[in-house]
Amino acid sequence: MNETIAIVGGTGHLGTAIARRLAKAGRRVVIGSRDAQRANQAALELGFGVTGTSNSAAAMVGDIIIVTVPFASQEATYLDIAPHAPGKIVVDTTVPLVPPKVMRVQLPPEGSAAQRAQRLLGDGVRVVSAFHNVAAHKLATDEEIACDVLVFGDDKAARVTVVRLVQELGLRGLHGGALANSAAAEALTSILIFINKTYSVDGAGIQVTGALVEPAG
Ligand SMILES: NC(=O)c1ccc[n+]([C@@H]2O[C@H](COP(=O)([O-])OP(=O)(O)OC[C@H]3O[C@@H](n4cnc5c(N)ncnc54)[C@H](OP(=O)(O)O)[C@@H]3O)[C@@H](O)[C@H]2O)c1
Repeated sequence: MNETIAIVGGTGHLGTAIARRLAKAGRRVVIGSRDAQRANQAALELGFGVTGTSNSAAAMVGDIIIVTVPFASQEATYLDIAPHAPGKIVVDTTVPLVPPKVMRVQLPPEGSAAQRAQRLLGDGVRVVSAFHNVAAHKLATDEEIACDVLVFGDDKAARVTVVRLVQELGLRGLHGGALANSAAAEALTSILIFINKTYSVDGAGIQVTGALVEPAG
């Protein structure tokens, strides 16, 4: 609970929404930006418990690093923070949307953005992926959100940590299995965007049905 959570690309829609909820839950949060000044300003607006700096400085001080940047900038961002990632949990939130066809599933050659993150960071980093299906503008409010957060990762202990972190945000985090399975949640986002447009929904989400029993450990 004493860890510092870094949010790289934390000035954007998803990053500020996660920062706000984490700070409200009592977490120490550092948001990063390509421009430290911009991060500082965003942190001031978020207030309590949040500070701002450059992406690499945020990654350096973060015990857990959450990366919230567009797919197009995923590679450059990971190359920037890679020196500070070994041994840490890095939570990739990237949905591999390729404009203009964002309602079409277009996964990268690695199989998923999460596996791409692992390739860019190397095996010594505990990559977990999450948050693909939750709308940032809903997360930015205090309202209850009708969306489960599927969490993927090959390192089970890291996945457990992130599932708990998701719960601190007021959402239900569910284990989705291996990092390769992230492809399913990443792909689903294009379908949710299609559903939003087709059925005039404001941020469709996903929920798993059934009486789930918490796994041991
Ligand atoms: N928005 C959602 O509802 C949502 C939901 C689930 C998952 N996601 C995923 O979460 C990630 C972030 O989404 P978002 O909507 O928060 O994105 P965003 O607001 O468009 O961008 C997030 C931040 O990324 C940085 N950035 C933008 N362009 C960049 C570039 N060319 N190079 C390096 N950094 C750049 C910017 O920070 P600085 O300019 O300060 O550096 C920006 O504030 C995406 O991969 C998205 O697919 C989004």
